[in-house]
Amino acid sequence: MNEYATHTTPAPNADESPQHVLDVDDLSDDDLAAVLSTAADLKAAHRRGEPHALLPNRSLAMLFEKPSTRTRVSFEAGMTQLGGHALFLGPGDTQLDRGEPVGDTARALSRYVDAMMARVFDHDALESMAAGSSVPVINGLSDDAHPCQTLADLFTVYELFDGFEDASVAWVGDGNNVAQSFAVGAAMAGIDLTMATPEGYEPDAEVLSRADARGTAPEVVHDPEAAVAGADVVYTDVWVSMGQEDDREEKIADFEEFQVNDDLLASAPDAAVMHCLPAHRGEEITSEVLDGDRAVVFEQAENRMHVQKALLAYLLGDQDTIETV
Ligand code: CP
Ligand code: NVA
Repeated sequence: MNEYATHTTPAPNADESPQHVLDVDDLSDDDLAAVLSTAADLKAAHRRGEPHALLPNRSLAMLFEKPSTRTRVSFEAGMTQLGGHALFLGPGDTQLDRGEPVGDTARALSRYVDAMMARVFDHDALESMAAGSSVPVINGLSDDAHPCQTLADLFTVYELFDGFEDASVAWVGDGNNVAQSFAVGAAMAGIDLTMATPEGYEPDAEVLSRADARGTAPEVVHDPEAAVAGADVVYTDVWVSMGQEDDREEKIADFEEFQVNDDLLASAPDAAVMHCLPAHRGEEITSEVLDGDRAVVFEQAENRMHVQKALLAYLLGDQDTIETV
């Protein structure tokens, strides 16, 4: 160490490999409990206006192949609140668009920054980044998974029910990225989850088997009314995900019976409604539901920032300091 050493970025090629979070089950049950508990402390500190600069001088590179509102801003504002800095690298901003392999990009970036978050189409790109990176790589959404969303979802359910044991959740809609990570995260948390998707839009069998390995895999059905009946939470996502625009007409037709509206919710009169956002009002959810009293979607969106700060602090921080937040 010398007078210029201001923080403890691991040396490249350090023996210990970094912990990547490409999906929620990259976290152990203890990791998950620690992240959710730290998120509660950080949310309370944020609400009280108390400084909590747990990551001074740390940098987070944020690579985006797809658009984002919540993920970008919650990570960027979150890093500032932790005393660090986040760099936005959008499509066209790096040499990736000119053909530099993503593994080489990650190898170089990890010499500068303390962690990377990436939003990509192909989940394999994250695997390549992780293979090349000497710092943690966090999935900010891929076509297959959205673990940061799941952390916020689990935290939101925890807040609503003061735990997970009494919460039954009905997923209504597409079984892709958000649903897949939630299926695994719900299993880890012990949430009773039923998923209603149109035929052909179920979560991948490999994902359900990972959920099974960490708890109980959700029951997957094709009748939204059966899934929603008696549920404590109804959760949905867009019908046309980023990158699926060419399939729009087909998907709208396939999902017609899966709109979250007042009729569907009649059999779950007290259910809270979650949505990862952005919402396509009038497609997967009506404005009446989204703007109604049962929707918790903006609290859920806020929680993205608290859980991601907790995750960054957990991956990069000094545990003794975090425990005193
Ligand atoms: N839920 C979510 O990831 O939102 P953004 O696409 O706005 O980041
Ligand atoms: N399934 C959606 C989630 C957006 C946060 C998508 O991939 O576009």
